[in-house]
Amino acid sequence: MSAAGVNAQSDVAATSNKAVPYLLSRNGRHALIIDGAPFLMLAAQVNNSSNYAISLPHVWPILDRIHANTLEIPVAWQQIEPREGQFDFSFVQTLLDQARSHDKRVVLLWFGTWKNTSPSYTPDWVKLDNSRFPRMKDKTGKDHYVLTPMATSTREADKRAFVALMTYLRDHDAQNTVIMVQPENEVGSYRNPRDYSAAANAEFTKSVPAALARRIGKSGTWTQVFAGQADRAFNTWYTARYIDAIAAAGKAIKPLPMYVNASLAGPSNVPDPTGVASGGPQQDVLDIWKVAAPSIDFAAPDLYDKVSKNVDLYLDAYRRADNALMVPEIGNARLFARYFYAAVGRGAIGFSPFGMDDTGFFNYPLGASALDGATLDAFALPYSTFAAMQREWARIAFEHPTWGTAKPDNGAPVSTTMGDWTISASWGEWQFGMKDWIWLKSEPAPWASEPVGGTAVAQLSADEFLVTGDHVRLTFGSRPGGPTNAMIVRVEEGHFDQGRWVMDRIWNGDQTDYGINLIDRPAVLKVTMGRYR
Ligand code: DGJ
Repeated sequence: MSAAGVNAQSDVAATSNKAVPYLLSRNGRHALIIDGAPFLMLAAQVNNSSNYAISLPHVWPILDRIHANTLEIPVAWQQIEPREGQFDFSFVQTLLDQARSHDKRVVLLWFGTWKNTSPSYTPDWVKLDNSRFPRMKDKTGKDHYVLTPMATSTREADKRAFVALMTYLRDHDAQNTVIMVQPENEVGSYRNPRDYSAAANAEFTKSVPAALARRIGKSGTWTQVFAGQADRAFNTWYTARYIDAIAAAGKAIKPLPMYVNASLAGPSNVPDPTGVASGGPQQDVLDIWKVAAPSIDFAAPDLYDKVSKNVDLYLDAYRRADNALMVPEIGNARLFARYFYAAVGRGAIGFSPFGMDDTGFFNYPLGASALDGATLDAFALPYSTFAAMQREWARIAFEHPTWGTAKPDNGAPVSTTMGDWTISASWGEWQFGMKDWIWLKSEPAPWASEPVGGTAVAQLSADEFLVTGDHVRLTFGSRPGGPTNAMIVRVEEGHFDQGRWVMDRIWNGDQTDYGINLIDRPAVLKVTMGRYR
C-alpha cells in the first residue's frame, strides 16, 4: 500500500535550527517555518493585563491544560519605555525564561500607538502630549480619542520603542522562543473615519498613490476612486503605511514574521465607515494593506461572531494566496472551539482562543463566563490531537489539499468532494446505528443539541485521507458520477513518529459500519479508498 503522501520527505528545505522563523507561501498554501520546518501554532492569548510577571503563574497551567504550544501575550509601550529613552525589558526576559522552561513558543503583541484603536497602552509622556503626539481631528475640528496616523513624530517614537524591543529579541532570543510579532492591536478609528485636520484634508484632495491605483485598476482622488468608503480607504492607507514603517524597522533588526489583526466589520463587504474600526485590515480593504504594508506578512481576523456562516465567510475572506490564514483571537466560549477545524481545514497556520488565563477575568458575553472543565475540554480535544502531529500536519497542509468544517448552527450535514471521493460530516449521532432505524429506538445523543462538532481532513494522495475530528460522523463515498465500484479499503488509526505514519490498529466492523464516528477522544485516522475489479 502506498504511503507516499503521508511519509514523503518534506521538500521544505531544512535550514539551520537557528534560522529565524519565516513564512513560506507556495501554490496558494502557506507554512510558518520554525527551526527549519512547518509548525502549526496551537496558541492561546492571555487577557490584556496579563503582561506582568505576577500573572504568568496563572497562564502556563491553562496552556498546558489545553495542549497549546504557543502563547500570545502583549508587550506594552508604556511597560518598556515608561520614560522616554529609558527601556525596561525585565518582563520580556522573565517571559522568555518561563516560556522556555514551559516549552512554549511566544507571539508578542506590540500594544503601541493603537490598542483596539486607543492610545491607552502608550506611555504617559505620549498620551499626555497632544502637541507632539496629536490626536485625529473630527469634522468639527475637535480632538478625537485616536492618535493620528499622519504624525511622523508619533510614528518615529513608536518605531524607536519597537526597534528597541526587536533589538532585545535579537540579543536575548537566539533560540527564537518568540516566533512572530503583531505590531499594534486592532488598529483604526471608531466613529471618525479619518483625520479631518487641515493637513489631512489637504492630503485627501490628492490622487491615490500610484501603486495603489495600479493594484486596484482605478486612479483619481480618494473620493473618485473609493466613493462612500473614501475617508476609510484614506485612513487605511496612512495607518498601514505607519505600521509598515514600524514593522520594516523591526525586521531590519530581526526579521520575524509580522501580522496585523482586524476588528472585523460585519460580514458585509460594504461596512459603515463610522461603525467599523476605520483603518484596520478588514476583509474589504486587504488590497490597500497589501500595497501599503509590504513588511506585514498577513492580516488576520479576530473572530467573536458566533454565527457559523459568518465565521466561514471571514475564514474564506482571509484565506488568500497572498494572505496566510491565522486566527489570532477567537472567543474562548465552548462553541468557538469547533471552528478550529474550519480554520485548519482551510490551511490556517495558527489558532488562538482569547482570554486563556486564570487571572479571574472573563470577557463574557464576547467569550466564556468561566473557564470550566467543559470549556477547556472543548479546546483541549482538537489541540491534543494536533499537538501530537503539529509538525506533520503543518507540512501536509502546506503540500496537500485540506478541508475542514465545524457543525453549522442549523446542524445540517456538510460535505465536500476531493478527487473521486465525497466526504460527508453529520452531527449529533451516536457511534452505532442509524438515526432513522425504526426497529431499534434511541435517545438523541447528548451532544446532538450542543454547539460541538468538527472535522479536518487532508488528502494525502488520490485515494488516501488523513482524518481528524470530534463529535462528528464521517462517511466516505464515490462523488456524483464517480466510480460505481467504490469502497473503503482500510481505516487505520495511528500516530506519527518523527514524520512517519505508524499504524496502531485497524478500525472495522462496528467502528466503520455506520460511518467513522469521532466523538470525544483524540484520534488520527488514515482512510484509504479504492475500487474493486
Ligand atoms: C479584541 C482585542 O484585540 C483584545 O485585545 C480584547 O480587547 C478583546 N477584543 C475583548 O476582550
